[in-house]
Amino acid sequence: MNSYSIKELLSTQPIGDAVEINGWVKTFRSNRFIALNDGSTIHNLQCVVDFENFDETLLKQISTGAALKISGTLVESQGRGQSVEIQANAVFVHGTADPETYPIQPKKHSLEFLREKAHLRVRTNTFSAVMRVRSALSFAIHSYFQQNGFYYMHAPIVTGSDAEGAGEMFRVSTLDPKNPPLNEQGEVDYTQDFFGKETNLTVSGQLEAETYAMGLGKVYTFGPTFRAENSNTSRHLAEFWMIEPEMAFYDLDANMDLSEDFIKWILKYVLDNCQDDLEFLEKRLLDEEKSKPQNERSEMPLIEKLKFVVENNFKRVSYTEAIDILKNSKPNKKKKFQFPIDEWGADLQSEHERFLVEKHFKCPVILFDYPANIKAFYMRLNEDEKTVRAMDVLFPGIGEIVGGSQREERLDVLQQKIKELNIDEKELWWYLDLRRFGTAVHSGFGLGFERMVQFATGMGNIRDVIPYPRTPQNAEF
Ligand code: 4AD
Ligand code: MG
Repeated sequence: MNSYSIKELLSTQPIGDAVEINGWVKTFRSNRFIALNDGSTIHNLQCVVDFENFDETLLKQISTGAALKISGTLVESQGRGQSVEIQANAVFVHGTADPETYPIQPKKHSLEFLREKAHLRVRTNTFSAVMRVRSALSFAIHSYFQQNGFYYMHAPIVTGSDAEGAGEMFRVSTLDPKNPPLNEQGEVDYTQDFFGKETNLTVSGQLEAETYAMGLGKVYTFGPTFRAENSNTSRHLAEFWMIEPEMAFYDLDANMDLSEDFIKWILKYVLDNCQDDLEFLEKRLLDEEKSKPQNERSEMPLIEKLKFVVENNFKRVSYTEAIDILKNSKPNKKKKFQFPIDEWGADLQSEHERFLVEKHFKCPVILFDYPANIKAFYMRLNEDEKTVRAMDVLFPGIGEIVGGSQREERLDVLQQKIKELNIDEKELWWYLDLRRFGTAVHSGFGLGFERMVQFATGMGNIRDVIPYPRTPQNAEF
């Protein structure tokens, strides 16, 4: 007897063989047809039990959610929608799932409902498809970098530095909350946090990745990052995964080239390797869109949209050009932007980013050369002394998916900037050392992994593309 995954059985189809599969019941109809799924694929395998040959008490244990082992003969199926099925001769119940209390019933559950059941939602078609795509994307990311001469670098999670200088950090503390050390003013002395040091969860591995790029040449990180921003949007998590390549001797143009090539490659990988899941997710979206007004429907089905990104050039536009476009635009005939852009120097909101991508250029956009004062301290100052060599990749339906830059490699310019921003130079002594010893042009970027999974799967809310979302409301599991 051969034990198979459903994916293997469907692709090899050993008709007439004795086979065995394990999985969870999706549906059980007419006391006869069990649709079983084991997570290996979006497809269920139909198993036919001839109820006359089975004990009634056994059949009573079979309901949606129960875990079974089924053995039998693989035969061609007469039924619609499947090529093969198992004619069962033995059923073993690993574990039952009481229909009165098992929350995932064979009907359409809302995503909000399933968010409350994060430990069980992966048994639904939608979440299993999303999580398989997520897994494929992670593999593709490693493959791309490993094939292109990058080394995988593990940046620390607990760190003393604020890479983005935005103050959105979660503190890491070993203090006794009931009896914390106090400073001279009688306030809690947080500088004693981590065995006598002030530390936090990393917001980005970039600064540490820079130190490695300046020795290994090309590196990338791929790990969890944390932001204590209290934003409740469909694009923000308090814990998200980020991919941060960092390359010595790359300028901003080379950085933009890499980001575009990388994104296209990983999406192509998903198109080539996740076809069944993408087809399911596309159909799911089309069904969902039917209930929306015409003007809110997406112009392209999911797979076509992914192909479009893979096959077309991203549009590269300077911040200054983008501002000129935005000043003279309205998102539609009736409406103005919620935050109208009237001067150079303003930070772009997600509505502006999405306007540029979805309405104006109708393709992914890379914006570059942003005003220095709306970007982080480490970005390379341009000759105009007003702008920095920053780049953001903007995506349809998402907005910013990548943020990156060429880094300031000149010690004096960096020190000056740190001073202007009142950052304590002592905290960054090691980062400044890179500019003291063998400094060189270098660049990198950060891709928000969950935003990429959202794009690849068409999921509207970032909470639905990570197993256990951490948001201001949600960290229960
Ligand atoms: O633009 P950000 O803040 O850039 C950095 O952290 C740089 N240090 C990256 C680098 O140059 N190495 O973040 C990078 C990307 C964003 O474009 C976005 O896709 C994602 O990370 N991101 C988030 N994703 C989910 N939830 C959040 N709260 C996010 N904040 C940023
Ligand atoms: Mg950014």
